[in-house]
Amino acid sequence: MTGELSPIDKAKFVAAKRAADYVEDGMRVGLGTGSTAAWLVRCLGEQVRDAGLRFKGVPTSTRTADLAREVGIEVISLDEAKWLDVTIDGADEFDGDLNLIKGGGGALLQEKIVATASDQMVVIADIGKEVEHLGAFPLPIEVIPFGWQTTQALVEETLISMDVLGRQSSLRMNGDHPFVTDEGNYIMDLHLQRIGNPRQLSLVINQMPGVVENGLFIDICDAVVIGYGDGRVEVRDINEGTVEQERLDFLETDNLFTDLAD
Ligand code: 5RP
Repeated sequence: MTGELSPIDKAKFVAAKRAADYVEDGMRVGLGTGSTAAWLVRCLGEQVRDAGLRFKGVPTSTRTADLAREVGIEVISLDEAKWLDVTIDGADEFDGDLNLIKGGGGALLQEKIVATASDQMVVIADIGKEVEHLGAFPLPIEVIPFGWQTTQALVEETLISMDVLGRQSSLRMNGDHPFVTDEGNYIMDLHLQRIGNPRQLSLVINQMPGVVENGLFIDICDAVVIGYGDGRVEVRDINEGTVEQERLDFLETDNLFTDLAD
């Protein structure tokens, strides 16, 4: 069965499987959104069913909530949890300081709220997500629908004075209609190519009326679990200053591969 997985899916799977070790009995856990996070939810669901793991999950999207319930994870809201032990989520890019671009799946607002309300944020990613400088992946920003074109013009004008290479932006679409987030907002993707000062850019963008949040996660991520297509996993912990490597076995978990999801 594993032979049917692409190297990228194998990399995402081993990162997710290794990151599941962060979850212990009694914890409150933020569950990210995206294809890598879906692997995590499946791995955790398997541990709930087969190993009796007991924890409460706070999903970062309706997609993740649906999957978590499907695999047997107890789902609660962030307000019920109030504070989380750990959040595990994917990313579109991470740099050497573990600053991130997120929101490729359109869930950046809930993802940032949940990650910020956690003792620890762990990112799971394939090695292709590592970059020297953030910005090749378009930076998503969540904007309210009212006056979105005015907000877009303001954002593009503001980018002139920012340390970025590109300034074009596009409204994310879902077929013929704007993509709508779980909060009823739109996503604008900023094609910046290279972000020289992510912290400054994040602060400036969030000051603009009409912008709800941006996909830069600065000083939020504590550790990244990087997966490789051959089963290797590397765990980098920025607080501990440690880097650990190991190799995971695919065969034990074949039953997880029967239903790829995102
Ligand atoms: C969703 C996200 C995802 O974590 C990010 O897009 C990575 O997704 P994937 O694991 O599918 O590559 O930020 O809003």
